[in-house]
Amino acid sequence: MTDIKDLEAEIHPLKNEDRKLQEDLENRAKKEDILTRTPPQSRLSRCRAVAFFLSLFICLLVVFVVSFIIPCPDRPASQGTWRIHYNTAVTYDFLATEDVNRDRIQDVLFLYKSTNSSNSFINRSCADEGFSSPCTFVAAVSGANGSVLWERPAAQDGALVECAVPQPRDSGASSACILVGRPSSLIAVNSFTGETLWSRPSSFGGNASVLRPLLQVPDVDADGAPDLLVLTREDGEVHGYVHSGSTGHQIGRRGSLGVDGTSGSLLHVTRAGAPYILLPCAGSLCGYSVKGLYEKVTGRDSPLKKDPRWEGMLNATTHRLLLHSSGAVRFLMVVPGKAGEDLLLVSSEACKLLDGQDLAPRWTLSAAQVLRKPVLGYYKPDTWAVVIENGTGTDRQILLLDLSSGAVLWSQVLPGLPGDPQSASLPTADHRSAFFFWGLHELMGTNQMEPGDAQHSLYMFHPTLPSVLLELANVSANIITFHAVLFEPSRHAACLLLTGPASPDVPGLVSVAKHKVRDLILSSRVVHLAEGGPDSDETVRDRFSRLRYRSEA
Ligand SMILES: *[C@@H]1O[C@H](CO)[C@@H](O)[C@H](O)[C@H]1NC(C)=O
Ligand SMILES: *[C@@H]1O[C@H](CO)[C@@H](O)[C@H](O)[C@H]1NC(C)=O
Ligand SMILES: *[C@@H]1O[C@H](CO)[C@@H](O)[C@H](O)[C@H]1NC(C)=O
Ligand SMILES: *[C@@H]1O[C@H](CO)[C@@H](O)[C@H](O)[C@H]1NC(C)=O
Ligand SMILES: *[C@@H]1O[C@H](CO)[C@@H](O)[C@H](O)[C@H]1NC(C)=O
Ligand SMILES: *[C@@H]1O[C@H](CO)[C@@H](O)[C@H](O)[C@H]1NC(C)=O
Ligand SMILES: *[C@@H]1O[C@H](CO)[C@@H](O)[C@H](O)[C@H]1NC(C)=O
Repeated sequence: MTDIKDLEAEIHPLKNEDRKLQEDLENRAKKEDILTRTPPQSRLSRCRAVAFFLSLFICLLVVFVVSFIIPCPDRPASQGTWRIHYNTAVTYDFLATEDVNRDRIQDVLFLYKSTNSSNSFINRSCADEGFSSPCTFVAAVSGANGSVLWERPAAQDGALVECAVPQPRDSGASSACILVGRPSSLIAVNSFTGETLWSRPSSFGGNASVLRPLLQVPDVDADGAPDLLVLTREDGEVHGYVHSGSTGHQIGRRGSLGVDGTSGSLLHVTRAGAPYILLPCAGSLCGYSVKGLYEKVTGRDSPLKKDPRWEGMLNATTHRLLLHSSGAVRFLMVVPGKAGEDLLLVSSEACKLLDGQDLAPRWTLSAAQVLRKPVLGYYKPDTWAVVIENGTGTDRQILLLDLSSGAVLWSQVLPGLPGDPQSASLPTADHRSAFFFWGLHELMGTNQMEPGDAQHSLYMFHPTLPSVLLELANVSANIITFHAVLFEPSRHAACLLLTGPASPDVPGLVSVAKHKVRDLILSSRVVHLAEGGPDSDETVRDRFSRLRYRSEA
């Protein structure tokens, strides 16, 4: 019976007798009355209340102090776009970024050649540094607003420059820009102040042409800074000059590498820890051990290593790598591999990934006419891809290849001009990359182009939207260098453009400009590569605008 009653009560709680409820309430009230009247318990609850209000008060006070009294550290306002000009100047294919004024926004370093520094606030002229006018200036401008941080004459004529070269701790500068000048000078400039750290005449022969780039080789004189290796080509032969990284003094004599070669060398450390210089040479690829070169220039033993495996692969007289046989080397890059570094080699006939240890080809892309240096980025999350540009003119094709397998991930015909700048990439927060390509405005167009009014157009691509390109900008000036740079960690990606006269003999307008990528996206033109994409232009721009960038680890 009672079971049924209870059940009924559960099913129809509202039908429950009021009296029972009343009783319940009364009982509870009595109990509470008794509880509150008990003296120790009441003191406890008062204590609790005091503690509660006190902690609440402290919390509010902290919030108040943090939000109103302690000021936030001032974040310097960064302008999305700035541009600076130099009249009657020429410039060089060099742009570097480094936080010069320590405001946590990358600043921009570049070179220009002019009669006098255009900035009257900085009053050092060419003659003050012992050069005749015009001479080459190094300038550092604020990445935030384009104001000049420092600029100074540094060479009669610039040949090679390398920034962010580490300096020994006692030199007072953590990093330096090293400039190899023509006809014969070598100078290290403190990146943060523009002051001279050291300056030496170089001993290159009068007819020597300096080969790019300036290589940093292991520190053999144990002064805490990597040593510098300048390769020159004199009378059809490559010579090496080793200089101390901390004083600029030449170490030993010049050493001949016994080969003829061109620019584009690199330093590769084998897995056995032996450093080798690799350089494009007379239609092939040549290698030379750094140990061998040191011993040649100093006449002394060097603590560096040679790799027996590599010695076996190099012809001892011609220094050619024996297994390489696919035409003149155009580009050579050290790329991340599965077990250490591998080598990406672009020759006149093919593009190859070589194992960094035994130089065995991992994959080969034949029938490719690659005239611009490949660029790395991520197409799939955390997986390296390489951008290859096949051909020029209306047939040019952009290929995104998986770096480890050589498989084509994405390809697109994008007509381009031989003078277009190099592509670029920036890692995004989703562990992929945004890619930047240059091309002609008339995508897929077969209109004949007049060389005079050729416009370079900048395109942006992201792997999550593979059927869309965004035309960010049209530039008609002659572009010397282009970089895509993350100015502040995880925000503020921007394009940097250095434009100037095409010929170093005809001075003109040199300009450096920064354009924030997000601002460019707002005014961009959406190019649908496939018919009938589901997204409207506005949605596409929105998705590109929402991309977050990350600094590379
Ligand atoms: C360059 O600067 C020097 C000294 O500051 C000055 O005498 C000279 O007239 C300037 N030359 C030009 C072309 O402005
Ligand atoms: C540059 O100007 C400052 C003050 O305006 C002066 O002290 C300095 O000597 C000048 N430097 C040169 C190289 O003329
Ligand atoms: C530019 O920014 C720097 C800090 O990055 C600041 O010191 C300078 O005053 C700014 N100049 C202008 C013209 O806003
Ligand atoms: C430079 O080259 C020219 C011709 O190629 C030659 O006559 C001259 O002697 C060379 N000068 C030096 C310093 O080697
Ligand atoms: C090295 O090259 C020279 C000249 O081309 C050639 O005569 C020689 O046989 C080569 N040596 C080896 C081991 O291949
Ligand atoms: C590169 O382009 C040429 C024509 O311009 C074409 O024949 C060749 O197949 C292309 N190579 C690749 C790998 O797509
Ligand atoms: C580039 O120029 C073309 C015409 O010359 C124009 O249609 C296009 O919208 C421009 N692109 C941008 C991003 O301004």
